[in-house]
Amino acid sequence: MKTSMKKTLLTIVAGCALVLSACGGGGADKDTADKEGAKTEAKKVLNVGTEATFAPFEFMDKGEVTGFDVDLLKAVANEAGYDVKIENTGWDAMFAGLQSKQLDIGMAGITITPERVDSYDFSNPYFESKTMIAFKDVKIENAEDLKGKKIGVQNGTTGQFAAEKIVGQNSSDISKYETAALMFQALQSDNVQAAVTDIAVALEYQKNNPDTGIETVTDDKQFEPEYYGIVFPKGSEYVEEFDKALNTVLDNGKYAEIYKKWFDEEPDVEALKKAAEK
Ligand code: ARG
Repeated sequence: MKTSMKKTLLTIVAGCALVLSACGGGGADKDTADKEGAKTEAKKVLNVGTEATFAPFEFMDKGEVTGFDVDLLKAVANEAGYDVKIENTGWDAMFAGLQSKQLDIGMAGITITPERVDSYDFSNPYFESKTMIAFKDVKIENAEDLKGKKIGVQNGTTGQFAAEKIVGQNSSDISKYETAALMFQALQSDNVQAAVTDIAVALEYQKNNPDTGIETVTDDKQFEPEYYGIVFPKGSEYVEEFDKALNTVLDNGKYAEIYKKWFDEEPDVEALKKAAEK
């Protein structure tokens, strides 16, 4: 706004304050403000499902779902002009809710896989991950060493698929748990000797449970890099808007800010964007 215009407006406002009745009871200004306020507040609320035992991406803190995914999704949704209501539905119920379109979004460190892409729409990648083996009281130096060990995985995750790749799909050595938390509990209580999961989650668990003797190892020969995406029902109208918003958040520093808050280091934004081109 030009200064001259500002001055004129100021004069009008001041005039109104002096002669209230002449300006419709002095409500003119306030009404406009309210209308504008209402406009910004009445955003459409999208329903989001997650499995919140997956720190640092999503976990429960004082009854609230919190974590990197939560901060990022809120920033992206906000950029796209939406509000989100995030509920800890659990892993299977999240996918069922997406199938039935009761949920608009799934956000749970969900790896973009060819099989899932057949059934759901994904945003561009927002995080690069890889498989990690967490183990206790045994010697594991690479994926091959999983053979003959009791292995815990979260059911229906890429950790399960990675373990199956090594020891076979129907191996009775693999125990499947409904949540990542139950998988770690099984490792802790010696029901399994190794857990196969995502690197950042294994490292976070190790960091938060320092005196438990849990060790970790990766195997770049056996396990490919993975990328997390925001998940939508097939044909969702929101995918494009969210991709655009994700790009903005990647470009304007908001992504880096959130990344540093949770991982204490700079993200490789360029690498992520390259992955999106594939
Ligand atoms: N990235 C893995 C997958 O997509 C594991 C995700 C598990 N997420 C969770 N919130 N428990 O299969």
